[in-house]
Amino acid sequence: VTAQRHGGLRADELTALGVDPSSVVDFSASLNVHGPHPDVVAAIRAADLLAYPDPTGLPARQALAHRHGVDPSSVILGHGAVELLWGLARLLVGDGPTLIVEPAFGEWRAATLASGGRPIGWRPDHGLAVDVDAVVRAARASSARAVYLANPGNPSGLALPIDDIAGLARALAVPLVLDEAFLSLSERHADAAVRLPDTVIRVRSLTKDHGLAGLRVGYALATRTLCARVDAQRPPWMASAPAQAAIIAAVERDDFVASSRARLLADRDAQHRRLRALDLAPLPTATIYTLVRVGDATSLRARLLAGHGVAVRDATSFGLPDHIRVAARPAADVDRLVAALAQELPCAPARS
Ligand SMILES: Cc1ncc(COP(=O)(O)O)c(C=O)c1O
Repeated sequence: VTAQRHGGLRADELTALGVDPSSVVDFSASLNVHGPHPDVVAAIRAADLLAYPDPTGLPARQALAHRHGVDPSSVILGHGAVELLWGLARLLVGDGPTLIVEPAFGEWRAATLASGGRPIGWRPDHGLAVDVDAVVRAARASSARAVYLANPGNPSGLALPIDDIAGLARALAVPLVLDEAFLSLSERHADAAVRLPDTVIRVRSLTKDHGLAGLRVGYALATRTLCARVDAQRPPWMASAPAQAAIIAAVERDDFVASSRARLLADRDAQHRRLRALDLAPLPTATIYTLVRVGDATSLRARLLAGHGVAVRDATSFGLPDHIRVAARPAADVDRLVAALAQELPCAPARS
């Protein structure tokens, strides 16, 4: 089995291990496990499957535009946030250099390489906190055509204050691709409504907010010109009729995102207490997933999955081979995580 590039379960691996997918409790993928809301499910079920949907998803873009107080021409839909990241990398980076604030979700790098570009990583010397001035210097030094930053970061879970993001955008001479996939499910959720300079492209994911990973639905907020350029180099119908229906229903259910966020952040805090009781040290995070130092993460992940049906994210692909990342889940699931960890890590190293 190749190195894990994402959380979530893989059929080939589970089959090879003889693990029944329905028995696995999944801490490796981070999203709103309380979703999707019944209203959103009803809208998806009612979608017209016979007719072609609107090619650019205008009704769904109008709903999002209304929700965010922008013009519909400043909203584009994607087959998940990932598809938008790939389209943006193709357009903005092409065969040139791009700066990635690391450790980072791997798709901007993958998309850059696929378009013949040159990904250049900037990583803090110590810890995981982002130094905005150093990022600006690195962007200039590398002649980056665009900068990719996730806020909150993945896997760190750390979030920059929105003023720092605005300052970063102003200091950069190039577009800032701001991946806000986890912003709504973070302590900094209110920052989603704060305006940012026009050079910022804000990429969002209903996967995370509403628990719709299987549907694949994301959107981006950007200038009208940029949205038109992205659309011009993609096929039509990037959002299916069920995906568009889900968006229209979801924008009416911000209350559901808010209540889910409160539950998830409380679940996260409870999970941290349980991990500390095992002598583990969860790292600080502003959102619904947490890095934990465990020693050999690849081996631990394999043992947890094969022996206990507990999936965690091995952080090796993020350059953190001694960390796992765990998502917030309800207490009964955390019981299973803690029992499995207690067995697999009987004498926890002093992990910081
Ligand atoms: C930072 C970040 N951006 C985007 C995504 C993917 O979002 P989507 O499922 O909407 O493609 C993920 C998924 O884990 C992520 O961690």
